[in-house]
This record gives sequence, C-alpha cells and structure tokens, in this order.
Amino acid sequence: MQKDTGTSGKTTRRDFVKTSAVVAAAAASGLVIPRSVHAAESSTLKVGLIGCGGRGGGAAVNALHADANAKIVALGDMFIDKLDTKLGELKNSEVGDRVQVDANHKFSGWDAYKGVIEACDVVLLATPPHFRPMHVKAVVEAGKHCFCEKPVAVDSPGVRSVMETAALAKAKNVSLVSGLCYRYDDVKREVVDDIHQGAVGEVRLLQHNYLTGGLWMNPRQNGWSDMEWQLRNWLYFYWLSGDHIVEQHIHSIDKMMWVMKDEPFAKVTATGGRVQRTSAAYGNIYDHFNTCYEWENGVRGVTSCRQFVQCATDVSDYVYAEKGVVDIMNHKITAGESVKKRKPSKVNMYDAEHVVLFKSIRDGKPINNGDYMCKSTLAAIAGRMSAYTGKTISWDEALNSKESYTPAQYAFGPLPVAPVVVPGVVPSTGATAAKE
Ligand SMILES: NC(=O)c1ccc[n+]([C@@H]2O[C@H](COP(=O)([O-])OP(=O)(O)OC[C@H]3O[C@@H](n4cnc5c(N)ncnc54)[C@H](O)[C@@H]3O)[C@@H](O)[C@H]2O)c1
Repeated sequence: MQKDTGTSGKTTRRDFVKTSAVVAAAAASGLVIPRSVHAAESSTLKVGLIGCGGRGGGAAVNALHADANAKIVALGDMFIDKLDTKLGELKNSEVGDRVQVDANHKFSGWDAYKGVIEACDVVLLATPPHFRPMHVKAVVEAGKHCFCEKPVAVDSPGVRSVMETAALAKAKNVSLVSGLCYRYDDVKREVVDDIHQGAVGEVRLLQHNYLTGGLWMNPRQNGWSDMEWQLRNWLYFYWLSGDHIVEQHIHSIDKMMWVMKDEPFAKVTATGGRVQRTSAAYGNIYDHFNTCYEWENGVRGVTSCRQFVQCATDVSDYVYAEKGVVDIMNHKITAGESVKKRKPSKVNMYDAEHVVLFKSIRDGKPINNGDYMCKSTLAAIAGRMSAYTGKTISWDEALNSKESYTPAQYAFGPLPVAPVVVPGVVPSTGATAAKE
C-alpha cells in the first residue's frame, strides 16, 4: 500500500501565506525561542553532503567557494562506490585541502543521511528528489542549516511535508536555501524586478521551453536487484524523479511562477507521452510534455519540455506584456523603441546561492526559500498530474492530492516497474505496478 506522508485535511492556495504568518507571529510573541545561529567569521562550519553525484559534487565545491572557513567533513550516498568516486574528485579539486572526510564520516545505505546530519552544521541535499521531503525534515528537526536541491518532492504529500518543514525551519531559526538556481542569478533578478516594477506593463502571456537532448543511462548489471537498478537510473522512474517535467522542467516552471509573483494559478491542462525513449531501459517516464497554466486574471503560461536526441534544443523564457516583450535568458527587455539588454551576471548562480546561505549563517539572519520552492514543485507536479490523467487540474486539487509515490518499503529486492501511464487508459500507480 502507498502511504500519504503529508498532512490530512484540506489545504488551500492561501495556506502557504498563512503558515508563514503563523510562524512569524509566534516568533514575534516570544513563543518560539530561536536557537543562536550566529557563527563567528573565524569559526569552522562543518558541511556534509547527502547524494554524491554530479550536482552534489558541484554543490560541495560551491559551498567551499562561498565560505573560506567551511569544510566538507561528511559524505553520504546510497552506494559506497559513488561516495568514494566523489570523495576522490573533491580531494583533487581546487578546494581539496578543505575536504576532510575520515573513514568514520563516510555513510552509505538507506540511513546514510542520519550520520551526515549528526556530524555537520550545514547539510547539502542532492539525492534523487523522491528522498527530499524525508531528508530536509531530518536536517531541520536536527536544527541544522540546509541547502536543498530542486525539486523538493515528487508528489503532493511530499510537497505538504516540505511546507511543514519550511515552517519549522523558521521557528528553529535555521536557513533553508533552494537550488532553484535562476533566482540567485543577479542579472535575472534585475530583469524580473523590472517586470515586477512595470517596465513592460501588465503581463499577458508567458512562454517557456526546455527542449534538451538525451541524458545518461546505466545499463542493468548482473546482480542488481530491481531496486538497485531503479536507484542507479533514478531519472527514468517517476516515483524517484517525478518525471522530467518535475525533475528538469521545474526550472522553466519556476521562472514562470517567479514572474507571476508566486501567485498560485487557477488550473493547468497538459499533454505528454513518450515517442523516442520507449525501451524498458528508460523506465516509465515520458520524453515530452506541453502545458497551459491559467491564472484567475486570464494570464496564461504555456510551457514545453522534451528530452529528444538528434533534435533541436532550446532553453528559453519569454514574457509578453502590455507594453513589450522580455527575453529572460538573454536579459533583454523590449518596450516599443527601447531595447535594454544586460550582460550576464559576474558571479555564477550556483556559487551565489551558497554565498547567500553562508552569509545568512554568519550574520545570524536565517533565510527561508520554503514558500517558492514548494509552490514551484507543486506547479510542476500539477502539470504532470494533468498530462497523466488527461484532466484539467486545479491548484487546490494538486495541493490536496493524496496520490503518493512512496513504495511499500525501502529495501533492496523486487520492485516491478509501474507501467507507462496512458491518460484515460493506464493510470499512474506510484512506485510499483498495481497488484492484480
Ligand atoms: N539546480 C540544478 O541546476 C541541478 C542540476 C542537476 C541536478 N539537480 C538536482 O540535483 C539532484 C541530484 O541530481 P544529480 O544529477 O546529481 O544525480 P546523480 O545521480 O548524479 O546523483 C545522485 C546521487 O544520490 C545518490 N542516492 C540515491 N538515493 C539516495 C539516498 N536515499 N540517500 C543517499 N544518496 C542517495 C545516488 O547514488 C547518486 O550518487 C536532483 O534532484 C536533480 O534534480 C539540480
């Protein structure tokens, strides 16, 4: 049986706002006693990484770039081979002198995250997204600061769990920084600020593409159980990745939500399928999606994503407004005769998010990206829900959905792959094929 790991009862679009307000009020009234988070400039901040893959390794380096007195002291991964490879790479990197992980601080297996959290002040989360709600909760409950890669969940119960954790992070005065990296790109911030300040008047239509090529795949080896094969190919199983609309296209959907000031949309209608990546080696995710999000004021956001080999690629974000057009990726604002084009940011956005995180810790002024990271994740999940069901999905339906992708147990062994979803014909069944 699948479990609902979130809250019970109905939640509405306004509840994101209410949760934050309640925590702020509690803090103001003295009901919440903040623990001291101020860390003197000279003191060492012990950093741990959970999920030692491509992005996790990048995040570890970004953290060390951001703070001269930070050290990587613990690593965790499901697989010790992945951990050892990443440890070797990090030690050989330009920040290798501050990678100080002894044998007692290498943690593998299902509980790897627990050892890392205990050993560190700051924890970087970069596993497959399925595990994010569980891991971010454990980090915040332990009173540690967190860098949390996107997306923050693969299903609605997961989003609701992270909403609660984000509120707890405020109450505990710990920082929670999101890996939705475009929001930390200085020049994109300026461009979106200009839109919000009315540089092109009222927004009418948003259009976002994330059209890329194929991604890595690890052919199944003798001796791998179903679970090990799926974990080592997590991108291709919707219970682990949320499908690529959630795992990758969230970047586009997040920019759309950002321009819309994170106002929940009214509904989304989407389509999708798989036409190129049809072999069983590619699990059960789609290879393309098209969506149309609609807000109560009539604004629409149309988005498209695909992962096709030997086809054109395009990652772009356009905002069409009353007085002009904004090309977000090229930082270009055209309004009538006026064309304003900015140069790219000086600091790369991956370093920038860690600069903000570590400064917040050093200054004792925690920051919390919980609201938008949950909303953008939910928006992507709603798009997938619509494509999978063939129905129009409202924000509130997505927010309250009980459909959970949590497997019956976390253990190596058999895990029959759920069939590829066909709208109106084959429903999604979460982590595994439905029992006869
Ligand atoms: N912000 C960005 O631009 C960006 C870019 C790439 C990836 N990401 C995100 O980062 C995350 C990781 O992506 P990646 O490309 O590094 O993947 P990856 O496969 O390279 O790394 C994931 C690692 O997590 C490990 N892992 C799996 N389950 C685990 C568990 N329960 N506990 C501990 N370790 C576990 C895997 O063995 C693997 O080493 C994803 O959420 C992805 O969406 C973000």
